[in-house]
Amino acid sequence: MATPKLFAPLSLRDTTFRNRLWVSPMCQYACDAEDGRATDWHLVHYPGFARGGAGLVIVEATAVTPEGRISPRDLGIWSDGHVEGLSRIASLVKGLGAAAAIQLAHAGRKASTPPMLPGFERGRGSVPESDGGWRAVAPSALAFGDYDTPRELAAEELPGIVNAFVTAAERAVRAGFDAVEVHAAHGYLLHEFLSPLSNAREDEYGGDLAGRARLVREVVRGIRAAHPDLPVFVRVSATDWVDGGITAHDTATVSGWLREDGADFIDVSSGANTPDAQIPVGPAYQAPLAAVVRAAGLPVGTVGMITQSWQAETLLTTEQADVVIVAREWLRDPNLALTWAGELRADVAAIRPPQLFRAIR
Ligand SMILES: Cc1cc2nc3c(=O)[nH]c(=O)nc-3n(C[C@H](O)[C@H](O)[C@H](O)COP(=O)(O)O)c2cc1C
Repeated sequence: MATPKLFAPLSLRDTTFRNRLWVSPMCQYACDAEDGRATDWHLVHYPGFARGGAGLVIVEATAVTPEGRISPRDLGIWSDGHVEGLSRIASLVKGLGAAAAIQLAHAGRKASTPPMLPGFERGRGSVPESDGGWRAVAPSALAFGDYDTPRELAAEELPGIVNAFVTAAERAVRAGFDAVEVHAAHGYLLHEFLSPLSNAREDEYGGDLAGRARLVREVVRGIRAAHPDLPVFVRVSATDWVDGGITAHDTATVSGWLREDGADFIDVSSGANTPDAQIPVGPAYQAPLAAVVRAAGLPVGTVGMITQSWQAETLLTTEQADVVIVAREWLRDPNLALTWAGELRADVAAIRPPQLFRAIR
């Protein structure tokens, strides 16, 4: 029987991913000391997915500057002191046969919130400076919903933002990651620049789509110039889901530019730059967006409400996407790739650690 597409390898630059079922970045809010350093939780959590057969494990949104954290408990990569802990995650994941990537992030106007964990205030709204929060920065002084109004970044500060991403990528490489993902989705800083809902700048980083895309393009070009062989992904919110926001066709245009800049892969998500959007959430609801972006020429991943093996396989065989990226279903079943390989009659033994062979029914 032919190998299901979900379990066929994929190569980007010189890196081969053993299959196309990847783990989506998921914030863990597990840095209890609030210093951005990896903890035991990260060392247990991420390698578990590699043990469960994932092709790639993408480590959560990891802040490129301290004020770019969503919450004080986020992982960080803004200093050399973060490299050792991250390198343990990467080496454990790789030792179990998966590739390891890390999402490089700046939360922009959605920074300084409580961790989205039980016992906290569900991760919504800004934590004031008097309570240990900090003033968020953004393309424009426009608040997200009822969050605090951010400080508009001056043009002179933007090279520092680009440099923070480029330096973070350099640390990620030093930590042993196989790929980096630039977070330009979910209403965080780079998405805020891309979207007319949050970018009212009148300088060269605002205005038309080309102006709004300038910052993320500089980030990608900077990383590519420093690391010619590194697979570079960009996660995008393909649409803001409201009139006047960014559309999937805008995102396809930007993806074409990012391809010229040296990006290798677009991870297609959507939304989260306005609380006013009506999002038609349902099974694989973001796959049509991935298909639009894919037409720009780069391989794409689709993510969102993908919970069944046959559903994932169909998204690939119908060429809506090149990779299936799953978040919550991996939390429910950390052996998801082993489970789905069995269901799709793929070669489970190829991804199952030999120590688990007696689990065969
Ligand atoms: C606990 C949790 C944390 C998340 N953190 C991130 C993150 O760090 N970066 C990101 O781009 N998306 C994050 N997301 C979104 C997921 O990566 C994914 O896009 C979303 O959950 C939809 O996929 P799913 O239906 O398979 O869960 C998070 C989702 C969850 C459930």
